[in-house]
Amino acid sequence: MESVRTQVVIIGAGPAGLLLGHLLEREGVDSVIVETRSREYVEQRVRAGVIEYGIANFLEESGVGSRMRAEGLVHHGIEIRLDGVSHRVALSELYDGHAITVYGQQEVVKDLIAARIASGAPLYFDATVTSVDAQTTDEPSVVVSSNDGDRVISGGYVVGCDGSHGVASASVPSGVLRRYERLYPFSWLGILAEAPPATEELIYCRHPRGFALYSMRSPTLSRLYLGVNPDESLNEWSDERIWEELTVRLATKQVVTISQGAIIERGITPMRSVVVAPMRFGRLLLAGDAAHIVPPTGAKGMNLALADVRLLAPALVASLRDHDERLLDAYSDECLRRVWRAEEFSTYMTQMLHPHPSAEFENGVQTARLRQVIESEDTARALARNYVNLSSL
Ligand code: FAD
Ligand code: PHB
Repeated sequence: MESVRTQVVIIGAGPAGLLLGHLLEREGVDSVIVETRSREYVEQRVRAGVIEYGIANFLEESGVGSRMRAEGLVHHGIEIRLDGVSHRVALSELYDGHAITVYGQQEVVKDLIAARIASGAPLYFDATVTSVDAQTTDEPSVVVSSNDGDRVISGGYVVGCDGSHGVASASVPSGVLRRYERLYPFSWLGILAEAPPATEELIYCRHPRGFALYSMRSPTLSRLYLGVNPDESLNEWSDERIWEELTVRLATKQVVTISQGAIIERGITPMRSVVVAPMRFGRLLLAGDAAHIVPPTGAKGMNLALADVRLLAPALVASLRDHDERLLDAYSDECLRRVWRAEEFSTYMTQMLHPHPSAEFENGVQTARLRQVIESEDTARALARNYVNLSSL
């Protein structure tokens, strides 16, 4: 079997793996990124859309933010819609003038792939890591399978940026990593539609029939979500039914229509929380969804993934260049503090905005929580801080 050596083997070309490769490259540390999917697939995969203030700044400082600054939509507030009435949470007024940027995850991925390819550093698409050997102390390795056959890539470190069903965490002997998990009784049905957004800001809507979210990707593309039952199948949702349900849930007393257009992408995502701890096993490290999942209501998934590698890159550089392990030793605990905060915020947002089909008492408490955001400036300020910048607090 062909064998290759590098300093850091990165599994996965999502936001975490690609940004990690880029940050290492800027410091002169070699890495190989291995991605099971094709370049076209990862560049088209529609997922998150909200970039926090501190993370947007970090992308720019890292030299991969210029298109995001030019094309991203800067939002200074969000709308919360309750019982057909809209309430604005003035994020920037409540939080030091700072704002979020609406810019699709696949655009971040495109920018990072372009930077990687321009640098000439290795990035293999259509290549699957089939096993990870991190038990050896000095030289962990992975086996990579592709159309060209199998090869072994070894390095000083292996980093699992391979998402929620990754091979990296699964390779750790049982009993070493602890997995904390919570399932929510909802899924999100998400669509991307060729329709100009009817509103300038995101709308989070709690309606007796369920949750709805109005988001966007550009002046001509809307991104909308419906909270649905966890066992819902896409086959049961015709275009007509999707638009009807969105219209009913998002209607206000003044506006009862939303702009519609061709649906060009759709999917159902179950809502769950997962934390894997610690995020390190010797010379194997985990980052992003490989170590934690949040329900999307707080818009934290991609931000957390990028925040992990913002810490991990300098830690790897210090170890490989200066034999200084202190940052790596602190990596997992420091990430997990932020991850649990994000879990708390995402749970809070999820439970406040998704009516329970049967739990009447729960619904009363949730509505009271939402009313506090609307009526209490202190509560709104706490929400604004977390929504705009949790990953950098
Ligand atoms: P990923 O982006 O998952 O990247 C992991 C990469 O590893 C993938 O490209 C995968 O193909 C590759 N890989 C996996 N196994 C292997 C292997 N064995 N060998 C080689 N490569 C491998 N967050 C939000 O904030 N808002 C949202 O609306 C939202 N919607 C989402 C919808 C879906 C369907 C999903 C799955 C997630 C969504 N998220 C959302 C979460 C957000 O997209 C993730 O938090 C983010 O993608 C994490 O980035 P990552 O780099 O850690 O992982
Ligand atoms: C999105 O635009 O895809 C989006 C926005 C806010 C969320 C989740 C997803 O909370």
